[in-house]
Amino acid sequence: MLSATASLMLASAVYAAGEPAVVPYAKMSKSVVDGVVTNGEYADSYADSATGMAVYWDQDGTNLHVALVSKGTGWVAIGFGPKGTAMDGANIIIGYVSDSGNLTISDEIGTGFEHYSDTAKGGSSNLLSAAGSHNGGGTTIEFVTPLNSGDVNDQAFQAGGSYGFILAYNKSEKDLTTYHTARSQRLSLQIEDPNATTVPGAGSNVTKPEAKQKATSLKLNLPLESMADGRVPISAKVVDQNGTAVSSSVVNFYVNTTFGEVKVGSAITNRDGTASINITRKIDGILAVRAEYLGDTGYNASGKVGYISVRAAHVTQSNQLWWVFDFTQIIIVTVIGSVFSVYAFVLYQVRKISSEGGAS
Ligand code: HEM
Repeated sequence: MLSATASLMLASAVYAAGEPAVVPYAKMSKSVVDGVVTNGEYADSYADSATGMAVYWDQDGTNLHVALVSKGTGWVAIGFGPKGTAMDGANIIIGYVSDSGNLTISDEIGTGFEHYSDTAKGGSSNLLSAAGSHNGGGTTIEFVTPLNSGDVNDQAFQAGGSYGFILAYNKSEKDLTTYHTARSQRLSLQIEDPNATTVPGAGSNVTKPEAKQKATSLKLNLPLESMADGRVPISAKVVDQNGTAVSSSVVNFYVNTTFGEVKVGSAITNRDGTASINITRKIDGILAVRAEYLGDTGYNASGKVGYISVRAAHVTQSNQLWWVFDFTQIIIVTVIGSVFSVYAFVLYQVRKISSEGGAS
């Protein structure tokens, strides 16, 4: 449990000073309220430098799922409220785990530097579920509460809204009343709106990226020059942003001709993310080759252009693509042939006229 918690704390999102921590929208939250935070259980987390506490959280548009982790064995708490909230008026969730592992948790309202249960202040307890444990020398408390309980003592959250939150814990006292041994600054959070087109907390001019869409890159492997028989082996390797091969995907290959770019083939990437074709080039010169991966669900498109030197003197055989490269020659021969035919016809007519003229 210790290692799971420690590694998760390292994975916490990093926010600049004053930037609101985003409580991500997770349609199907994976949180399990069992008092233990596992890797990937929550969509995001926030690490508080003042207290050393970590908060794991996400929301599904209806409920807020939270885990609080402290380095102590006493009470831990989080308070929600309007922007800039401190203790006074905060919607506080505070709890502790006894030595025998029992959780005591309370939905409270801050009043000055004190706090009282919601029920004592005309409201109701709105914890849908909760669990806690001591692990790795610290305390973990998980709970689920409505984003908008309707309770006058609770903070009502709305999608896209910005709010304040505070954190505190006591390193050893297992009660709800002893003064904290560490407390946070006044912090701010934003409830992610799944329908928003901008990134929460990043200003309105930052477009929200496609969910879980990974960037890809394509590496083109070309020989420096064509082989003795004119063959040009071409391959392209596609990997995602983590360097993982993108397999079973189509890569298209193009070359530049006098008439512009011509598609010369396509191939499916293998387990290594590599797609390969062979072409044959019969004309001397520099050949521009472009490979493109059009992207797929979860992967963005990528492509690359490369050049090879073709030495036609070495070419001894053609292949199935000969017509692509000989097309230029066919056109030239046809045009020249047509010009000569017209010239011969005109010459014939002129001679005929002049010979007929001579006869009369
Ligand atoms: C358990 C009983 C509590 C007592 C007796 C108490 C007492 C106090 C006192 C005397 C202060 C002012 C001195 C200072 O800044 O440290 C204070 C500030 C603060 N407390 Fe508490 N507190 C309690 C619980 C909590 C809880 C549960 C939270 C968080 C959920 C909390 C969060 C804070 C914060 C964030 C401040 C700084 C407020 C500001 O920025 O002005 N406290 N508390």
